[in-house]
Amino acid sequence: EGDSPEEVFVGAIDQGTTSTRFIIFDRNGQPQAQHQVEFEQIYPKPGWIEHDPEEIRSSVSTVLSKATKNFLDQGRRMRQLQAVGITNQRETTVVWDAETGRPLYNAIVWADTRTTETVQQLKRRPGSDKIFELCGLPITTYFSAVKLRWILDHVEDAREAYNEGALMFGTIDSWLIWNFTGGINGGIHVTDPTNASRTMLMNIRTLQWDQELIDFFDLGKVILPEILSSSEVYGKMSTGPLAGIPISGCLGDQSSALVGQQAFNPGDAKNTYGTGCFLLYNTGETPVLSKNGLLTTVGYKFGDKKPVYALEGSIAVAGSSIKWLRDGLGLIKESSEISDLAASVEDAGGVIFVPAFSGLFAPYWRDDVRGTMLGITHYTTKAHICRATLEAICFQAKAILDAMNKDSGTPLKVLKVDGGVTNSDTCMQIQSDTIGLRVERPAMRETTALGAAIAAGFAVGVWSDFSELSSINQEGKDIFEPAIEESVRDERFGLWERAVRQSCGWLKR
Ligand code: G3P
Repeated sequence: EGDSPEEVFVGAIDQGTTSTRFIIFDRNGQPQAQHQVEFEQIYPKPGWIEHDPEEIRSSVSTVLSKATKNFLDQGRRMRQLQAVGITNQRETTVVWDAETGRPLYNAIVWADTRTTETVQQLKRRPGSDKIFELCGLPITTYFSAVKLRWILDHVEDAREAYNEGALMFGTIDSWLIWNFTGGINGGIHVTDPTNASRTMLMNIRTLQWDQELIDFFDLGKVILPEILSSSEVYGKMSTGPLAGIPISGCLGDQSSALVGQQAFNPGDAKNTYGTGCFLLYNTGETPVLSKNGLLTTVGYKFGDKKPVYALEGSIAVAGSSIKWLRDGLGLIKESSEISDLAASVEDAGGVIFVPAFSGLFAPYWRDDVRGTMLGITHYTTKAHICRATLEAICFQAKAILDAMNKDSGTPLKVLKVDGGVTNSDTCMQIQSDTIGLRVERPAMRETTALGAAIAAGFAVGVWSDFSELSSINQEGKDIFEPAIEESVRDERFGLWERAVRQSCGWLKR
């Protein structure tokens, strides 16, 4: 007995849009200890969404302590935990003062649309037509540089710090790594290419900050994090229960799910249904620029290896529309109720819900739309509205898949899914019906956190080859096969497209 090497583990912090969790995985990719907390969504005005960066930081401290206690209570030792990875909601923009370490404004969340006017101004600037080619992203409210521009135009404290050269910028990964490696006492200011590829400031080919992009947004004096790979030792946790443990993985959450689903080969794809919904399609070592409204993003970059790129279709509102039925309307008490209610009716009774709370992202990119419900009659019940809400998620995924098929030329055969909403069998059946494809759901659905654990584990030698992962999460998959006629599918999707067309232009420009 005494001769067998001690079992090793890797932890992953998953800082998402509505919750923060810490999960400790074993070498087989199975969660052994975990804790999750929700935190406040701040909605100061219609279309505005903020988080308090200090609350985000303390939510991470909480989950680290609780999950670690659970781990130790199982008789395990701290030294068995080899490394920690971070994965995070992307684009969400944090600015802080280099001297005090204090945030200079609340974090502006990725789905926030306050920057519509900024977008119009930026589009009028000379050189705006070259931006997509440089960073793979269109100028919209979604990305960090646009939010950062807005902050500098509207927040006096931030502007002052900027003029003094003391304004630090980071997406959530950078904010957390800086704080947990010491903050003002030597914190490391870094990010990785998957997160940096969402700022609009990184060149999608060199994977470094691009002077032309920085000049375009006029952000020359911002202190930007250093872009390192997604898998290497950045530094060590400076305090708390994990003090001394290396932080060695960093991936934006959607890239992390790509890794967690082991979509390592060109042509592999995954769709994650969280707050929003994000379909990533692995395009290999070359970035592909979309002609159909998709984004070019970095899938992952492990150490010195070549980067792997992805085409992405982003949907702003997925799980958050269910949350809205619960918290905004009070139509349901628990999110999980939506599934049975939606299954209690055969169809949505003619109701189409376009949940464009943040405008529509891919492939439409319309910021002049807001949420719209069409086709309501006296016959409509809350069950129909629940069903229409799930259908909306699935219609949007179908629109993205169509765009993806056009861009790649090789139609997808199976859709691999994960994320909270996929717990709903009803939703997954609707998804399969809507796209006419098999939908495959793994038994262990914490694939986002798993991806960050894999990146962190690779950097410290827990794994050294992707083939060592191949048995992870293979057993107990659920399969959903299409069960409606093609004509019905086309008719329903036609209605969705009509509804989208009718909703566009609601906000006059
Ligand atoms: O781009 C935003 C995305 O990273 C947020 O992901 O899982 O919090 O919806 P999620």
